[in-house]
This record gives sequence, C-alpha cells and structure tokens, in this order.
Amino acid sequence: MKPTSHRAVVLRHRPEGVPVASDFDIVREELPGVSAGDLVCRARFLSLDPYLRGVIAGRHLGHTLELGQVIPGACVAQVTHSHDERYSEGDWVVFEGGWRERCVVNANSVRRIEDTAPSTALGVLGMPGLTAWAGITKLAKVRAGDTVLISAAAGPVGATAGQIAKILGARVVGIAGGAEKCARVIRHFGFDDCVDYKSLRFQHDLRAACPNSVNVYFDNVGGAVLEAALANLALHARVVLCGLMDQYNDAIRPPGPNLAPVIGARATLMGLVVYDYFAELPLYLAQATVWIKARQLRWLEDIQVGIEATPEAFCRLMRGENVGKSLVKID
Ligand SMILES: NC(=O)c1ccc[n+]([C@@H]2O[C@H](COP(=O)([O-])OP(=O)(O)OC[C@H]3O[C@@H](n4cnc5c(N)ncnc54)[C@H](OP(=O)(O)O)[C@@H]3O)[C@@H](O)[C@H]2O)c1
Repeated sequence: MKPTSHRAVVLRHRPEGVPVASDFDIVREELPGVSAGDLVCRARFLSLDPYLRGVIAGRHLGHTLELGQVIPGACVAQVTHSHDERYSEGDWVVFEGGWRERCVVNANSVRRIEDTAPSTALGVLGMPGLTAWAGITKLAKVRAGDTVLISAAAGPVGATAGQIAKILGARVVGIAGGAEKCARVIRHFGFDDCVDYKSLRFQHDLRAACPNSVNVYFDNVGGAVLEAALANLALHARVVLCGLMDQYNDAIRPPGPNLAPVIGARATLMGLVVYDYFAELPLYLAQATVWIKARQLRWLEDIQVGIEATPEAFCRLMRGENVGKSLVKID
C-alpha cells in the first residue's frame, strides 16, 4: 500500500548566528496528488549545503523561504511508483526535493543516476563538483606549473577543485581547520600541502607552503583567510571568489578585506555562480567519471542517518565540523 504521509523539516525561526536544531521543526506532510508524467519517490540521501544558510536567512539570490515551509535542497531518491514510461520502480534519480522523506515530482525535473555510489550525485558528481570544475577550468584556467591555493579544502567543492588542479599539473595547497583535517586533505585528496587556519602560525605557515607565491586562489570562505591568501599573490594572479563561509552566520556584513594586495599583484578577481554552468554538467560528468575510474578523483562523505537528524547535521556543517560532503541518509 502507498504511504500517504511522511516527515519533512520546516523552518521554525530564522537563526541568529550559528543555527541550532531548534530553529527547525519535523512535521508530518501529506503526499500531493499524482498526475500523468509524475514519479512518486522515496528519498535516500538529502543534500546539506552552505547556500541554505542564506536561504533560511531570507537573503539568497535564487530562493525565498517563509517560516513553516520545507527547507529546499537536492536529494537522491528511488522511484516507488512511476507514471512516466521512461522510469520504473527502483530507478535512482536526483532532483530538488527538499528535506522530506517522500516526494511527487514530474519526470522532466529529475536526472537519472547510476545505482553505484548514488550519493555522489549530490557531491563530486553533482553541484559541488561542477562548481569546482567551473572555477578551476573555466575561470582560473589552471595550467601546469601554477601554485593553486584552496580554502575549505576538505569539503566537496575544495577537495574536488584541488584534485582537478593536480590533474592539470598544478602544485596544490589547501587551507583547512585543524591538524587532522589538514592531514586528511594531503593523505586522502593528494594535495601537496595543507595549512591550518586555526593555528597561531597560520600566516607564517601559509607563506612557507607557497614559497613561489600563489598563481590561483580559489576562495570558499572570505574573511581573515581571504586576507591572508591575498597577501601571498604572485604577479597577475587569478582569484576565484566562490563562497563566504566566514560570514554566512553573521547578520551584518563584516568590513574588509583590504584589497591593496590585489592591486600590487595586478591580480584578476572572478566571482563564481554555479548556475551559469548547469548546461555544462554532462561535459563535467563525462570527464569526472573518467578521472574517478582512473583513481585521480576521490571524495569523502559526512553521513548522518534519519530525517530527524537533519537539523543538527546542518548545524554541524555551519559550525565547520563536517569532513566531506554533508548528507543525511534516509532508511
Ligand atoms: N559560487 C557558487 O556557485 C557555489 C556553489 C557551491 C558552493 N559554494 C560555496 O563553496 C563553499 C564550500 O562549499 P562545500 O559544500 O564544499 O562546503 P564544506 O567545505 O563541506 O563546508 C564548509 C567548510 O568551510 C569551513 N569553514 C567554516 N567556517 C570557516 C571560516 N570562518 N574560515 C575558514 N573556513 C571555514 C569548514 O571547514 P574547516 O574545518 O576547514 O573550517 C567547513 O567544513 C561554501 O562557501 C559554499 O557556499 C559556492
């Protein structure tokens, strides 16, 4: 028998500062009616992404969200009932389903995925991977011999960006929080070096890790880390501005950084919005699949279990405690 209701996560309060689990509620929801062309799906993995912090604050460029509404986001799901001849029960799909256990979705709004490692469609073979590829190959145009510096290096964007830069022949240095994360960035993702931005010696260690200065800086965090990276730019450096982890939890935008080193280095700054590259996802996936098979591209996942674990899992991400792509597995 088809289940008619399921659980979903809604916004209770707009968080002040770092979100807490009580900013969210778990509610029961009825499945909407089904029309020809629809798929009824059971979520298997929910994607937790930093951009959602801007969405729940009411200041994201692409989404609006009112109190009481289900948190949006991508999910990997399995079809349980198909009303479209292209799909059958058990097929794996990825789409924007939000933080809920079940969904009715039009078949034209999903992408079919393989049943091997399906969760990668939310990370290395999904939006974060595409972001990394676009920044490294389309904007920074990384070439052999470049020194490429990448912040939030243990996450799905940073780790993928670093590995693609390595494949292209660059020397790659990561920035991450804590000695353990830095060791993992070197050991698991093959970066040449990784510097701990939480260490008192950060600025000194960064200079030592980039003795020939930085040709490409891929910034995922902003703030003091961006300021330190700018101080190490080589002449004509390219800087890709991808994310602002340092300020997503702040209600008021902090001042700075001082951009004088950008002038001194005659550097080029580029803003990255992944939406501009969605049409190129098939091209990226074809290339990334080859790299994965050749063991040149790896990933890590940070998986919590059950819809009820979703609010706290998102809070962990926004506290920087995740290692790898943040996911919730729905049993
Ligand atoms: N421009 C676009 O279109 C686009 C698309 C996708 C993602 N993004 C951005 O890409 C960035 C990375 O996304 P992701 O999904 O790969 O996330 P992620 O790396 O899994 O998580 C973010 C990491 O940032 C680090 N961090 C948090 N606060 C920090 C701070 N104040 N200073 C330095 N590092 C801090 C934390 O790791 P540590 O332990 O190392 O601190 C945390 O684990 C985010 O800023 C996201 O918004 C942009």
